[in-house]
Amino acid sequence: MKFLSSCLFAAAALSSVCAAPVTTQELADMAAKGYRLLDLEEGAAPVWKTEEEKLDLLRNKVHFFDVTEVYDPSEEATCNSIACMSVHLSCCTVPAPSHSSQVTPILKTLSTSNMQSYLSILTSYNNRYYTSSTGKAASQWIFDTITQLAADRDDITVTKFNHSWQQFSVVAHIPGKSSGALTVLGAHEDSINLNSPSSGRAPGADDDGSGTVNLIEIFRALVAADFQPSTPVEFHWYSGEEAGLLGSQDIAKSYKSKGTSIKAFLELDMTAYFAPGSKEVIALEADYIDSGLTSFLKQLVDAYSTLDWAMDTACGYACSDHASWYKQGYTTGMLYEAITGDDNPNIHGSGDLTSVKGFSWSHSLEFAKVALAYVYELSI
Ligand SMILES: *[C@@H]1O[C@H](CO)[C@@H](O)[C@H](O)[C@H]1NC(C)=O
Ligand SMILES: [Zn+2]
Repeated sequence: MKFLSSCLFAAAALSSVCAAPVTTQELADMAAKGYRLLDLEEGAAPVWKTEEEKLDLLRNKVHFFDVTEVYDPSEEATCNSIACMSVHLSCCTVPAPSHSSQVTPILKTLSTSNMQSYLSILTSYNNRYYTSSTGKAASQWIFDTITQLAADRDDITVTKFNHSWQQFSVVAHIPGKSSGALTVLGAHEDSINLNSPSSGRAPGADDDGSGTVNLIEIFRALVAADFQPSTPVEFHWYSGEEAGLLGSQDIAKSYKSKGTSIKAFLELDMTAYFAPGSKEVIALEADYIDSGLTSFLKQLVDAYSTLDWAMDTACGYACSDHASWYKQGYTTGMLYEAITGDDNPNIHGSGDLTSVKGFSWSHSLEFAKVALAYVYELSI
């Protein structure tokens, strides 16, 4: 209730800056002509852009939510979703990590050679762009792989979350012994070549092949350890992150409208590179995240990783999939491969390969360890 009332208060205070919402008719007409509706900054009305203008923004490293498929005129009328972004409550009480005797043996089973094998398949698709047939084929491969890994567990469900474009997202659900709020771990399965998104080569080894295979390997290790959490856990592989957080927005909106409770959401987007010569750390996202969850993540790094954590500089609006959950009012965090500036400069083109100097499987493994511990500690 506190959330709601402060939200409405903030909405009232902001109402003077809120433009008239886009009507359902305008939305349908413009989308049919190929225009995309972009949410470029917090508190501002969304704007229409052509596909080419949208690509130019991406090339200029401007982040945004592409809300063409998820925009809701009735919600925008009260400016709720905009106003709510600035009035997040800090997370619940997050307990200190306390299961190291159970977690540590499972961490030892995480395998970089497994991750390497998964990634060699994912990078063999020409690209994993959300509208391409190879992008769809890659999501099918993830679905098949996770289904296979869960074959002996009747309780686990693996689902295709279909969108209005080709590439679906993949959701694996491990039920809890009792019901309760979900613990979610996410990564994005798509990749992009900014010069030529539909047909250009985009291996996406680091962005975000690394996070994608971390999740697959964590899932494999937990299932192999016969992990049976007290509260439910989900693994999400998102479609269309590179094109404006499309898949994660679709799913976060759906969960919010169903009233799904979420204990925490953690995103892994790029975990395998740090600039040669820089200090190797686990960087923590600094904005559009929950400070309580981030404190917990620091404790997990201290308890389970050989690396130190470091706070990153602000990534800004609509940076990665965690922002889609944050926008819906959920508790979010993100681990990042390096302090921005020491991160991978080869992304979004044909050169995002495991062969670049600075790509490190042992580095990526540290992220898998912390993310597995996050799942275990929060849900057991
Ligand atoms: C998604 O689409 C596929 C193929 O059309 C279908 O088999 C599947 O049941 C759909 N998933 C859901 C959750 O509706
Ligand atoms: Zn990414």
